[in-house]
Amino acid sequence: MQQHVAIIGGSGQQGRGIARRWSAAGFEVRLGSRSASRGAESGLEFADERISGGDYEYALRGAGFVLLSVPYSAHAPTLLALKPMLKGRLLIDITVPLQPPKVRQVFLPPGQAAALEAQALLGEEGRVVAALHHISHTHLADLSQPILGDVLVCGAKADRERALPLLAALDVSVLDAGPLRNAIALEAMTPVLLHLNRCYGGSASLSISGLASR
Ligand SMILES: NC(=O)c1ccc[n+]([C@@H]2O[C@H](COP(=O)([O-])OP(=O)(O)OC[C@H]3O[C@@H](n4cnc5c(N)ncnc54)[C@H](OP(=O)(O)O)[C@@H]3O)[C@@H](O)[C@H]2O)c1
Repeated sequence: MQQHVAIIGGSGQQGRGIARRWSAAGFEVRLGSRSASRGAESGLEFADERISGGDYEYALRGAGFVLLSVPYSAHAPTLLALKPMLKGRLLIDITVPLQPPKVRQVFLPPGQAAALEAQALLGEEGRVVAALHHISHTHLADLSQPILGDVLVCGAKADRERALPLLAALDVSVLDAGPLRNAIALEAMTPVLLHLNRCYGGSASLSISGLASR
C-alpha cells in the first residue's frame, strides 16, 4: 500500500495546488496545519476523498514523505517543532527566503539557503531536498493547463533520486540539479522571477535549454 504524503502548511496557496496535483496522480494527501480545525476545514474544501487535513501530527503520522510549505519566517520554528517526527523521512523543502517588503531582491539567509538551514536543524537524520521554487501557485492550481518551466531538484544523490519521481507526479518537468548546496542558487532565483513579473507582467518560470537528453 502506498503511504500518504504530508504537506505542512498545506492550507496555503502553494500547498493547495500541490495537494490537488498529487491527488490527481493517485496519492493520498494529508494537510498539516498549526490548527487541527483549520487543517480539517482546508481538507474538506477540496471535496476530494484523497485529501484531508488536521494538525501536524495527523498529517505526519505514517507519512511516506513530507513537503514543507510555510513562509520563511516560520521555517526554523516549524522545523524545530517537527524535528522528532521528521526523523529519517524525506523532506521536500520548497521555501524561498524572502524578506518583505523587498521580495524582488535576493535575500541570503544566515545559513545561505533555507534548505541548508533545514538540513542543519534536522541534523544527520534529516533527509532534505529542495525544489519547486520557480513554479507559481497560480500555475499549480490550474490542472487544465500544462506547467511551463522546469522544476530543479537538489539534495543528496539518494534523496533527490527518491524525490524526482514524486515531483514528476505533479505533472511537471523535473531536472536533477545536484547537491543541496545548489539550493543557494535555486532559492535566490525566485526574487529575480518576481522582479521580471513586475517588469513584464505574467508569471515567469525557469526553463533550461540545451540539454542533450531529458
Ligand atoms: N506562492 C507561490 O507562488 C510560491 C512559489 C514558490 C515557492 N513558494 C514558497 O512556498 C512556501 C509557501 O508559500 P505560500 O504562498 O503557500 O505561503 P502562505 O500561503 O503564506 O503560507 C502557507 C501556510 O503556512 C502556514 N503559516 C503561515 N504563517 C505561519 C507561521 N508564522 N508559523 C507556522 N506556520 C505558518 C499557514 O498554515 P496554517 O495556518 O494552517 O498553519 C499557511 O497556510 C513559502 O516558503 C514560499 O516561499 C511559494
